[in-house]
Amino acid sequence: MKVYGHRGYSGKYPENTMLAFKKAVEVGADGIELDVQLSKDGEIVIIHDETVDRTTDGKGWVKDLTLKELKKLDAGKIKDGKWGFQEIPTFDEYCQWCKDLDIITNVELKTSIVYYPEIEEKVTEMVKKYKLEKKMLFSSFNHLSIVRMKQFLPECPVGALIENDALTYAGYYGKKYGFEYYHPDWELLSDEAVKECKDNGVGINVWTVNDLGAFEKLYEWDVDGVIGNYPEVLAAYVHSKQK
Ligand code: G3P
Ligand code: MG
Repeated sequence: MKVYGHRGYSGKYPENTMLAFKKAVEVGADGIELDVQLSKDGEIVIIHDETVDRTTDGKGWVKDLTLKELKKLDAGKIKDGKWGFQEIPTFDEYCQWCKDLDIITNVELKTSIVYYPEIEEKVTEMVKKYKLEKKMLFSSFNHLSIVRMKQFLPECPVGALIENDALTYAGYYGKKYGFEYYHPDWELLSDEAVKECKDNGVGINVWTVNDLGAFEKLYEWDVDGVIGNYPEVLAAYVHSKQK
């Protein structure tokens, strides 16, 4: 079972910053989950919301700000500046950092509210630039984005993110469309859904697991990956089970 730091080690550090990514790896995460969008001038930036208001000291839509403008904002604000000024990272900076590390990156394409034309092409270009084809897993709530990623990088696995609804036919759906993984909210998972995925050879990565109480069940279900804000706690749990 793999442990992914959700937006890095976001329980403790400012989400989707290089600091949070580095700390997740330091505490034993097998991978990082992060969210990508495009700046006004078409650069891939790592940020969760479509606006910068919640996580930085700025205001406005990511799509309306240039990279230069985004770089001036403080993404450390979300943790009350406790960790000092933190830049919004570009995906290029992230790839440069992780290219020699033994971690998997779950890149979530945030294309449901704002559709960024050619974001999939740009992400592909970056993955190829740093030869990260064996270390990437793509997901999106917008399944058109994962279909496109599969077209461009067939060797990289993809996961269909599902929100608000238990997809009891997720295994059939994944198999039919060539999605290797189902990415549900862990609270939506059931014995039936797990069995249906396993019967169809579709893996399961769940989010956002911050409750250790849930973990026993997830371990019993033998899900492939857990994505959580406290990778330190999750990694310690998994390692204790594997002893
Ligand atoms: O990819 C799992 C999870 O990150 C999906 O939801 O809103 O945290 O990006 P969200
Ligand atoms: Mg996400």
